Amino acid sequence: MGIRTLCISDIHVDINRSYPVMEALAEYAIQKEAECILIAGDICEDVYKVREHVQWLKKQTGVQVYYVPGNHDLWHTKESKVTTDEIYKLYCEDENCLCGKHVRVGKHIVLGDVGWYDYSFGSSEYTRKQYDSMEHGGRVWQDKYYNDWTVDNTGRNEWFLERMKGQFEKAAEYMQQKNDGEIQGIVVVTHMLPHRAFTVPVDDKPMWKFFNAFLGSEALGKLCEQYPVDYALCGHVHYRHEFTEKGIRYMCRCLNYASEWWGSKEIQTQIEQAAGFIEL
Ligand SMILES: [Fe+2]
Ligand SMILES: [Fe+2]
Repeated sequence: MGIRTLCISDIHVDINRSYPVMEALAEYAIQKEAECILIAGDICEDVYKVREHVQWLKKQTGVQVYYVPGNHDLWHTKESKVTTDEIYKLYCEDENCLCGKHVRVGKHIVLGDVGWYDYSFGSSEYTRKQYDSMEHGGRVWQDKYYNDWTVDNTGRNEWFLERMKGQFEKAAEYMQQKNDGEIQGIVVVTHMLPHRAFTVPVDDKPMWKFFNAFLGSEALGKLCEQYPVDYALCGHVHYRHEFTEKGIRYMCRCLNYASEWWGSKEIQTQIEQAAGFIEL
C-alpha cells in the first residue's frame, strides 16, 4: 500500500468565504485517512494567507500538505507596490510549496509549479496581438490587471517550462540513484492545464474559443511525456475531469466557486465530489 494522497484544487477560500472550506477539507481528509494532501493552486488571493491556510491544514490533519500557487494566489492589486516576482519568491521560500523543488512522497517524486499559458489552447482564428491584449467581446482576462507577468505570457510560459525541465531532470537523477525500483514514478502538479482535453468546450460557449488561450500550454504536456510521469494534476479550469493517456493519469479535481456548484450546495458534498485519491 502506498501513501493515500488527497488531490484537490481551486478551493478559493476567500471567494467561497460563506463556506467553511478549510475546516471541511481538513475534516474530510481526516475522515478518509489521507496521508498526504496535494493542492493544485487557487487557494486564496493573498500570499501570506495562502501560506497560513496550508500550514493550518497541515497542523489540523497531521499530514504533509504540498501545493503550487494558482494565478489567483499570485494576484496583487493595481495600487500595491509589490511585484509578481516578489510574490512568487515568497511562495518559493515556503517549505510546503512545490515551486522550484521536488519532494518524495511514498514511492513517488512530487514536483510542480504554477505553469503558464502560451495561447496554444486558443482558436487559430485570433491573432497573437489579440491574445496579447487579453480582451475579447468586452471581457478581460483578469490576470491582465493583477499580474505583471502578463506583459509577456509566452515568454513566461517558456520560463516555467525551462524551470520545470530542471525539476524533472533532478527528479530523474534521483530516481536513477535509487534504481532498485524504490521510486516508481513522478507526480507533476501545475495550476495550468497540461492537456487540451481539459479546456472549456466551445460549442455552447463560443467565448472560450478565445479565453481557452489563457488556461495552459500544450508544451507543458509534451514536457511531462518525456519523463516517467504517473500522475499530472492541474486546476485552473473550473471543470472536474480526469483521463489516462500514454500512461499518464491526468486529473483536475477542482472545488470551484460556490456559484458554479452543480447539485448540492453543501460544502462537505462538494469537497467529497471534488477530491480525488491516488496511492503514491
Ligand atoms: Fe480557480
Ligand atoms: Fe486559476
